[in-house]
Amino acid sequence: TRRQHAPKGLRSPPGPRGLPMLGSVLELRKDPHLVLTRLSRKYGDVMEVTIGSRPVVVLSGLETIKQALVRQAEDFMGRPDLYSFRHVTDGQSLTFSTDTGEMWKARRKLAQNALKTFSIAASPTASSSCLLEEHVTKEASYLVTKFLQLMEEKQSFDPYRYMVVSVANVICAICFGKRYDHDDQELLSVVNVVDEFVDVTAAGNPADFIPLLRYLPSRNMDSFLDFNKRFMKLLQTAVEEHYQTFDKNNIRDVTDSLIEQCVEKKAEANGATQIPNEKIINLVNDIFGAGFDTVTTALSWSLMYLVTYPHMQKKIQAELDQTIGRERRPRLSDRGMLPYTEAFILEMFRHSSFMPFTIPHSTTRDTVLNGYYIPKDRCVFINQWQVNHDEKLWKDPQAFNPERFLNAEGTEVNKVDAEKVMTFGLGKRRCIGENIGKWEVFLFLSTLLQQLEFSIQDGKKADMTPIYGLSMKHKRCEHFQVKKRFSMKSSN
Ligand code: HEM
Repeated sequence: TRRQHAPKGLRSPPGPRGLPMLGSVLELRKDPHLVLTRLSRKYGDVMEVTIGSRPVVVLSGLETIKQALVRQAEDFMGRPDLYSFRHVTDGQSLTFSTDTGEMWKARRKLAQNALKTFSIAASPTASSSCLLEEHVTKEASYLVTKFLQLMEEKQSFDPYRYMVVSVANVICAICFGKRYDHDDQELLSVVNVVDEFVDVTAAGNPADFIPLLRYLPSRNMDSFLDFNKRFMKLLQTAVEEHYQTFDKNNIRDVTDSLIEQCVEKKAEANGATQIPNEKIINLVNDIFGAGFDTVTTALSWSLMYLVTYPHMQKKIQAELDQTIGRERRPRLSDRGMLPYTEAFILEMFRHSSFMPFTIPHSTTRDTVLNGYYIPKDRCVFINQWQVNHDEKLWKDPQAFNPERFLNAEGTEVNKVDAEKVMTFGLGKRRCIGENIGKWEVFLFLSTLLQQLEFSIQDGKKADMTPIYGLSMKHKRCEHFQVKKRFSMKSSN
């Protein structure tokens, strides 16, 4: 994948040339999203950098990114063959593998359908609007109790450790119809080491770009491989239990629904796409894996902003009191009636840009973008952070200001501005859990904030410095405190 010359009459994208091989890697090692945003000011929306021995096209600017991922969707829908990606789900991941053909399309559909049925599709029972609402309400109520209990025992605590299990339990309920205890060691050993996963799969991981590094001992890489092993094992156990108790007349969850697909596929023998059973069942890895870290990270950043800007927390709570009151719990259907809460969540996504890049893409064929020639199989980074902090799109982008999304009266979220926030990617690789993710963040937050007031222990500060990764986290903070806002008369 050395630099190739563009065909006659076409230019290759501009970019900093001739950086020493290790130089560019070391410079990019720290906050690549900031380094590449700075470089894009000089070289433009389509630029080429060399990382290690590999040329990478970096896309910035909302219009350019839309042009590539939406209007030229087929050209830019690939995934690069990266060393780290080969280890996710034994190289068969829907999300990280290089597949883009009919098989990939069919798998993505299967995953989307199974997920929808057991999350946001209208619920057959009347107790809640959908299963997602039921699961989140239950887990959020558990968190309220847990946080209050921790306050009594320890006077302060780190909410992340508990939220990650609650969020994992929501996706677990959807995938496996079960929930784990907050002290379950098997689950904790997976959800608590996700930091290594997001470190190694992040755009610009040196071992993906300098082959030599693969042969040197690396603690990060070892923990990453270990994480993948544990993760596969946790899921395999659940899948085996499902096979043993499978009943085609009682499809209980995503796993059952995927097993059903394997069975049905056999019945209609030579269907258009014959997907091996393993590649159907292991879709549950993609769903589970993508479903807990992202949402936990979003919630955790939300709490950090809330304790940093207490007047915003008060405003959300005033809105909740006014619209929902204190007699019942928030529901998903309240979402449209809580503009300030919605604006706060949008601003959290924009300002943190905790997924600074999408998962890396690659070109599926030779193509031309904004007049620049890009050959087939070129690795492409999509800089979401740049879009969310672009001065051409946002006034004072560094400021955290939910009101930027509201009309003057504060009664409505501006749809056009909301659409400019880049968090879930765009086009054919766009996140399949976008609605689930947004709704979960909304319902967890509104349920917690209706009942609890969050703060940081006197004299302590919340450190908001992001740590670079596929998803960026802040340092864990053990100084959170909560106060009960009032006593609920009944539970709903
Ligand atoms: C892909 C963001 C929640 C499932 C992605 C991508 C992003 C993203 C940026 C990559 C898009 C690209 O490569 O262009 C988020 C955020 C979430 C979230 C910010 C929460 C706030 C979820 C949830 C699920 C999910 C809850 C499933 C239950 C997936 C899958 C892919 C994906 C399967 C891979 C799609 C593909 O490669 O075709 N997500 N996501 N995500 N997401 Fe999400």
